[in-house]
Amino acid sequence: MPENAATPGAPGTPHIEFRDVVKRFGSNTVLDNLNFTVDKGERVTLIGPSGSGKTTILRLVMTLEELTGGYIHIGGTPLQYEEVGGKRVRISDKRRRRTTTDIGMVFQHFNLFPNMTVMENIIEAPVNVMGLKKAEAEAKAEALLEKVGMAWKKDARPSSLSGGQQQRIAIARALAMDPEILLLDEVTSALDPELVGEVLAVLEDIAAETDISMLIVTHEMQFARDVSNRVMMFDKGAVIEEATPEKIFSEPENQRTQDFLRAVL
Ligand SMILES: Nc1ncnc2c1ncn2[C@@H]1O[C@H](COP(=O)(O)OP(=O)(O)O)[C@@H](O)[C@H]1O
Ligand SMILES: [Mg+2]
Repeated sequence: MPENAATPGAPGTPHIEFRDVVKRFGSNTVLDNLNFTVDKGERVTLIGPSGSGKTTILRLVMTLEELTGGYIHIGGTPLQYEEVGGKRVRISDKRRRRTTTDIGMVFQHFNLFPNMTVMENIIEAPVNVMGLKKAEAEAKAEALLEKVGMAWKKDARPSSLSGGQQQRIAIARALAMDPEILLLDEVTSALDPELVGEVLAVLEDIAAETDISMLIVTHEMQFARDVSNRVMMFDKGAVIEEATPEKIFSEPENQRTQDFLRAVL
């Protein structure tokens, strides 16, 4: 481990830490020595123009993308690479999976399993990954479906449901794994405008009732204001400004933040 690495789980250890993170796709450097931390229970919103690297950041945390350089630590535990004897060493898939079971992600496109019922979608990972008994997983799924207002559709197929309903089920599916970290990538961007509110209301409840750390990418600025402690403005893979939502939305300092907010608000 690097000398300055935090002890896993020790008080004050960031929940998510990006340390000198580099991500390239071929010759395209998307993230160039990115550093930031998210504390336990903190809700951080990432804003910035399309192509600035927001999705890539979430996908790196979910280990859906491979780091090109640097380190990501989750609660002090190295996620993809660690430093051993001065060398950067890849962490085994098995160890990576152990860390990512605490992380849930909801995507822009709901991507529920189309061949499974709502209930089957939700219990799939708890049964197959966590090893929960089917009855136990179903009882838990019922409660989560109740919470997102979808218990009445537990035997339905995703294709028979509206986008807003599918997204609420995707949220319940992520919560079924008891995540400590929730990654939300433009979860309302693919929805018809009249369906956005029901999804954001569910997320606001979860934010109010749990201490799950959240990394949120959204263009819904009112939602960002309501749930986040901090907003980070990205441009070309770098944080160009960060502040509380109150500050950044009312008095952004950076010219590019001002231009971006003027365009989206
Ligand atoms: N799988 C990929 N292969 C090649 N380039 C990619 C891939 N995913 C993202 N990129 C590139 O990375 C950059 C950042 O993309 P992304 O993280 O999706 O930005 P954002 O979510 O902020 O719109 C873009 O230039 C995009 O084209
Ligand atoms: Mg994106």
